[in-house]
Amino acid sequence: MTSGLGRPVTSASWPPGSRLPWPLQIPLFLAGPRWQSVWARRYGDRFTVRLGPFGNYIYLADPGDIRGVFHSDDTVLHAGQANAAMLGAVLGPSSLLVLDEHEHRRRRKMMAASLQRPAVERLVPRMEEIAGAAVGRWPEGRTFPALPRMRAITLEVILQAAIGVTDPARLGALRRALLVLSDIPLWQMAQFAVPSLRAHRPWRSFWDGWTVADRLLRDEVRRAVGDPDLERRPDVLAVLARARDEDGSAMTEDELVDQLRTLLLAGHETTATALAWTLERLVRHRDVLERATGAARSGNLDYLDAVVAETLRCRPVIADVARVVVSGYRLGDHTVPPGTFLNPAIALVHRSADAYPRPDRFDPQRFVGRRPDPSVWLPFGGGSRRCLGASLATTEMRVVLAAVLRRTDLVWTSQRGERPRIRHVTLVPHRGARILVNARTGR
Ligand code: HEM
Repeated sequence: MTSGLGRPVTSASWPPGSRLPWPLQIPLFLAGPRWQSVWARRYGDRFTVRLGPFGNYIYLADPGDIRGVFHSDDTVLHAGQANAAMLGAVLGPSSLLVLDEHEHRRRRKMMAASLQRPAVERLVPRMEEIAGAAVGRWPEGRTFPALPRMRAITLEVILQAAIGVTDPARLGALRRALLVLSDIPLWQMAQFAVPSLRAHRPWRSFWDGWTVADRLLRDEVRRAVGDPDLERRPDVLAVLARARDEDGSAMTEDELVDQLRTLLLAGHETTATALAWTLERLVRHRDVLERATGAARSGNLDYLDAVVAETLRCRPVIADVARVVVSGYRLGDHTVPPGTFLNPAIALVHRSADAYPRPDRFDPQRFVGRRPDPSVWLPFGGGSRRCLGASLATTEMRVVLAAVLRRTDLVWTSQRGERPRIRHVTLVPHRGARILVNARTGR
């Protein structure tokens, strides 16, 4: 057994944690950052949550510990194995999210170019059209939740800009299939952990829907691979279909379908939620709202980037990420045994007063003219598993936010902020980020 630093690890020991029986720790674990804060106050920056047959989780809120985890050898800590427990059946065996070690590195290298900034910049005009058209249909003079509207925009961006679907009939079919699937309630998620449920109603309906979506995605992959225009297409699918690994081989059809499922699952709901939080925060901070509106209308998009960075700090969409210890890991004085989950606690770090003075304040000024510090700004995780879609997500957020602020007058409110509520693996505003649009400016 070796540690992440290559030192020998002897016997197991655990950071402190609740002594409650494991069935009582489950609902607290599922409550996410609310209980993580309580535990962090009680036990410090490293604490253990014991879930009996579901494993032991060590949460980490110290940036040094987190850096150690993110930069550990990928043969010592596995992210894919940690993700596969919930997502393996939905995403398929070659999805980037569920792979580890050599296979993960190989696929990630093949996929990287499709989501790096130059490729993302080519998608901006399509994003602008999608966002502009959608915001133009928003209701005026009545309060409505922004989250479903943002979901519709981010789905459209994935379908049109990322997968490159243009035909209205095929777009309509994919939209219907995928919106139904993205709306599954929490109890439906049980089937990912207990696959035998899938044979029974009501869980079976999810798989029926998934089969339809899968058929449509496979059809898009076949069309892309056979497209005489493939070389010129800017969409992510086209770049993936053109990618070759070191020995010159392309991804197979099954692999491409798995990666499309991954982009949809990883990129649609997350970006929509982050955008909904951005509006939820803006309408509660009149000065920031005014400054952001002025910036959008004068084309000063740097301020919008600061708004996006601050929203992702104070309302991270994913509260924590996980790694499974494969061969033993040394964490300070602790020797962590194989099978344990190590969870960098993003939400706790983002709320640390050491890293962010007055952390409860929504203050984009923190990021004006300054890039976020990667050791304490972690909305996209880190290390060799850092979100591959981070550039796409932040660019899309800037484009959509600019479209909203240019085309609408958002109304400021003195109402209390919405609470983060867990939905699948994301933290959503509990009322869907309700906003009021006053009057369209015609911009
Ligand atoms: C605001 C929006 C988003 C947030 C907050 C977010 C967050 C995350 C996080 C926390 C991880 C795990 C990182 C880790 O384990 O260290 C992740 C992984 C990933 N994300 Fe995102 N994500 C977002 C948008 C997107 C988009 C738009 C795409 C692509 C369309 C995407 C594709 C991926 C992929 C492929 C991975 C797996 C990377 C790997 O395992 O190597 N994400 N994301």
